[in-house]
Amino acid sequence: MHTNPAYGKVILSGEHAVVYGKVALATSISLGVSAEVVSKEGDASELVKKAIEVAGGENRIQVKIRSEIPIGSGLGSSAAVSAATIKAVREYLGKPITDEELFNLIWEVEKTLSPNDSGLDSTIVTYGGLIEYRKGQPFKQLKISRPFKILLVNSGKPSETTGELVKMVADDPTKQVIVEKIGEVTKLIREKLVLGEEIFELLNQNGFLLEELGVVSESAKKLSRELRELGASVKITGAGGVANGSGMMIVAINDLTKITKLLDNKKIDYFETIIGEK
Ligand code: MEV
Repeated sequence: MHTNPAYGKVILSGEHAVVYGKVALATSISLGVSAEVVSKEGDASELVKKAIEVAGGENRIQVKIRSEIPIGSGLGSSAAVSAATIKAVREYLGKPITDEELFNLIWEVEKTLSPNDSGLDSTIVTYGGLIEYRKGQPFKQLKISRPFKILLVNSGKPSETTGELVKMVADDPTKQVIVEKIGEVTKLIREKLVLGEEIFELLNQNGFLLEELGVVSESAKKLSRELRELGASVKITGAGGVANGSGMMIVAINDLTKITKLLDNKKIDYFETIIGEK
């Protein structure tokens, strides 16, 4: 039986900048992953093997994963797979796990994929909700007075890993100016969110800054341009992607009709999610 699901996440604002100590805002979404300890034919990915190892599982333990989260698309699939695996292994071993320990173990796995990982994905997958996160500081749960709808639009699977994209930004010191600006926009978004004011224009500014940062592909930029021409605010969510797709994009606009028509015509996958709903 699959137990203890773990859920994916959307970064509303602050990806990449969070690696340098800037604030980020993220929320969990209802797409989940579950894991089950099995006697044969387990999932053999390096990620799952590492998660079994950090949970104290021996070599013979195998785990089967079921996931609704598209892999490598910015929705936190790796942290969710780690979380579900660690919880399944600990349950199998009869060793309860605290949230703090779970967070630390997920983060240990995440750091093998991206050595400078900020801990944002590990936090949101452990504690859920809508959070404000700064590396090395206690996170805060945010309450927002006005939930709002966004579309998550699939710009295509990235060919780079999160670790590679984080390193690309780190290797170019000229990008730090943009990192600062993303930090400032995220602070403004936080203020507006709490006041129940609309954040669409600020999300769009964040989207342009991520393009300037160099983590958005030409095809994702082209799609963003078309969506912006219809009045939507657009930003990638997560690490992005350069050579092919850039993973999921947040698309926000009050009237979605024209947007969904364009996406349907182009046969682009998307789904709706509500931010701030408990
Ligand atoms: C990945 O979901 C988010 C990044 O900011 C990396 C990190 O926080 O470690 C790109």
